Amino acid sequence: MKALVIGSGGREHTIAWKLAQSSKIEQVICIPGNGGTADEAKCKNLNGDAVEIAVSEKVDFAVVGPEDPLSEGIADSLWAAGIPTVGPKKQGAALEASKDLSKIFMEKYGVACAASKTFTDKALALEYVRQHGAPIVVKADGLAAGKGVVVAKSVDEALKAVNDMMDGEFGEAGKKLVIEDYLQGVEISVLAAVSVTEKSAASGKACIKAFLPARDHKRLLDGAKGPNTGGMGAVCPPQDVSQNTLEQFQKEILEPTLKGLMAEKMDYRGFIFFGLMLTKDGPKALEYNVRLGDPETQAVLPMMDFDFADLCLAITGENLSDFEMKWKPGFQVAPVAVSGGYPLKYPKGKVISLDLEKISREGAKVFVAGAVKNSEGGLATSGGRVLACSAHGETFDEAWKKAYRALEGISFEGMFYRKDIGLPGAAESN
Ligand code: AMP
Ligand code: GLY
Repeated sequence: MKALVIGSGGREHTIAWKLAQSSKIEQVICIPGNGGTADEAKCKNLNGDAVEIAVSEKVDFAVVGPEDPLSEGIADSLWAAGIPTVGPKKQGAALEASKDLSKIFMEKYGVACAASKTFTDKALALEYVRQHGAPIVVKADGLAAGKGVVVAKSVDEALKAVNDMMDGEFGEAGKKLVIEDYLQGVEISVLAAVSVTEKSAASGKACIKAFLPARDHKRLLDGAKGPNTGGMGAVCPPQDVSQNTLEQFQKEILEPTLKGLMAEKMDYRGFIFFGLMLTKDGPKALEYNVRLGDPETQAVLPMMDFDFADLCLAITGENLSDFEMKWKPGFQVAPVAVSGGYPLKYPKGKVISLDLEKISREGAKVFVAGAVKNSEGGLATSGGRVLACSAHGETFDEAWKKAYRALEGISFEGMFYRKDIGLPGAAESN
């Protein structure tokens, strides 16, 4: 079979790598891919229109990595062209693209989450903040590249966020605001496979199957300090998540979400990402993403002890409910190496030196995010988050040591990484 992967980050390199491990897969076409997929076994990078390439290359199915093409309806176009696609259609993708819509959905179907109100009128929003008091959370409704949320510790900070967003800081994305109660706790991410269609809902086969939980570390510096980033590393599973928490998540968040997708008659065949806050009253949903997390994917997919191509086919073929997910025992730790200066200004084109022997001695895998092949056939940086070094261990300690020892075999000018991915105290908490 031939698979197509759309996207250019570390998540997409990991998806392509995991697909390539399947004996069913002869080739994985990556549009546009990156310097990692360029060298990955069975993988080939191509540039161009995804639907045209999918048809001309006769791919058997496609996996869409990022949210932007999904919210623009790429899954609708691919299905219309006869390509089974992992990734929701536009209607489902709106669960990430509009915070207002996702909150309406959560409240309508009884998903455990923070209370919130939506505003399009600035004066009313400011008045609400003054009456409510702080802490309080102000969210731009639309996609704002992960920057549209302000967790305000004071009323003044919240008022400024309302003014900035409604005055156009994020363009149209901030013209509507969701103002939400503050939740205290630590965060985790639960990624899941979803296969919901009208047909599967009618036959009782619609389902969402959660993967092992994971945690992304979003702050730049050790101890969850410094500015927010796109993710400095991930662990799967986090050491502090109890079975009880996962059961509560299943009952109070996952099952109501499934009920909602069915009731709204969605054709949602893809992945969903539950951003959760673990509060003293149990897990609460912070957000839905309609795709796998980055860098969570780099820690979660290597833990899968099953064929990822089979999972994709079960999702598109509406038989996910019969699919059995088996997981490796132990832990996966995946610190991310970033360019010096990230998340602000950083240089590009820095040559990456890889001690492949050392990396393979540790059993680690490098997933490339922001790097391209240079003219000498090596890798050069092209983004802020450059790569993740992902390793498995029977114990957390073993996984952690392998990942970090392997990372010592990687260098480029200005390279920076957190030293505490997965350790106690590394998780963000309010
Ligand atoms: P979101 O894009 O909605 O997940 O928000 C981005 C980040 O803001 C989350 O990962 C949390 O760290 C924080 N956040 C969002 N909502 C809340 C809330 N209700 N209480 C506390 N922190 C929040
Ligand atoms: N790791 C957070 C995200 O993918 O949005």
